[in-house]
Amino acid sequence: MKVTVLGAAGGIGQALSLLLKTQLPAGSDLSLYDIAPVTPGVAVDLSHIPTQVAIKGFAGEDPTAALEGADIVLISAGVARKPGMDRSDLFNINAGIVKNLIEKVALTCPKACIGIITNPVNTTVPIAAEVLKNAGVYDPAKLFGITTLDVIRSETFLAEAKGLNPADVKINVIGGHSGVTILPLISQTGLDFSDAEIAAMTTRIQNAGTEVVEAKAGGGSATLSMGQAAARFCLSLVKASQGEDVIECAYVDGGSEHSKFFAQPIKLGPSGVKEVLGYGEISAFEKQAIEGMLETLDGDIKIGVDFV
Ligand SMILES: NC(=O)c1ccc[n+]([C@@H]2O[C@H](COP(=O)([O-])OP(=O)(O)OC[C@H]3O[C@@H](n4cnc5c(N)ncnc54)[C@H](O)[C@@H]3O)[C@@H](O)[C@H]2O)c1
Repeated sequence: MKVTVLGAAGGIGQALSLLLKTQLPAGSDLSLYDIAPVTPGVAVDLSHIPTQVAIKGFAGEDPTAALEGADIVLISAGVARKPGMDRSDLFNINAGIVKNLIEKVALTCPKACIGIITNPVNTTVPIAAEVLKNAGVYDPAKLFGITTLDVIRSETFLAEAKGLNPADVKINVIGGHSGVTILPLISQTGLDFSDAEIAAMTTRIQNAGTEVVEAKAGGGSATLSMGQAAARFCLSLVKASQGEDVIECAYVDGGSEHSKFFAQPIKLGPSGVKEVLGYGEISAFEKQAIEGMLETLDGDIKIGVDFV
């Protein structure tokens, strides 16, 4: 199993690479790429951790060497939010970065599963899909917008509110990955909250990224929790490739009745998405929230398609 991280010298990339170096199965290869010249050094640093995961770092303009033979490619290359910015403000820079990197993925490892972290995810995933289509190698089962951070935040906040072990809280988060498009299905957790508490908790989860951006006061956005979230998603892909059925929520082109790309629970298998699962019974509040997000989500998707 070879995992390549593009953007590996960044805040997310380094946290993610550390977690993968310590948690990928023995015998795996981990390949780090970033335009930042420090990247081979990040790999040397990580190589001193005693695990059976071989690691190499690559810097420069061309990611090809890092991508050769990759089974999973995780992309966190780009710029992160500063206070006062929302995820769509990142579009102009990050759209071009994702487009260029996916062109290289399409050429070098077209069969790899691709997990996109770079924001705005609602738009960068459709960009990736269009680039892969143009290259004739698009497999919707292998392209994921990583929304796991919304899931782990929900697990954490709900557990805190009820005094539970977060490991015992399971939740689906559907829709997209910004503002009102993030919809935690709190009604399905079986936890007892009033309508007002559900509305307040939903808003907190939707704005949790901004909580971090403001707390870091100009120093960036979520990196460590995102590293953890992306590592969880990647390790689920690895387990699935070894034959285990694993369920995660992710933003995929999965035939949703709501929009072309939609975050929803999916069963992972050896070739990426094995089955798109329904999200089950939802409350009137959640139905209304889906209706309320669709214009934003469709607009975000269209911007990506038009860009390519
Ligand atoms: N999906 C999510 O839930 C989520 C959460 C937090 C942040 N993000 C997004 O992840 C991205 C990265 O955030 P970060 O905090 O790690 O930022 P960062 O600035 O710390 O790191 C980004 C890295 O990308 C590298 N980079 C830039 N252009 C590149 C290119 N063309 N090829 C390879 N590498 C390149 C930079 O050199 C840098 O090392 C941002 O877009 C951010 O908004 C996503």
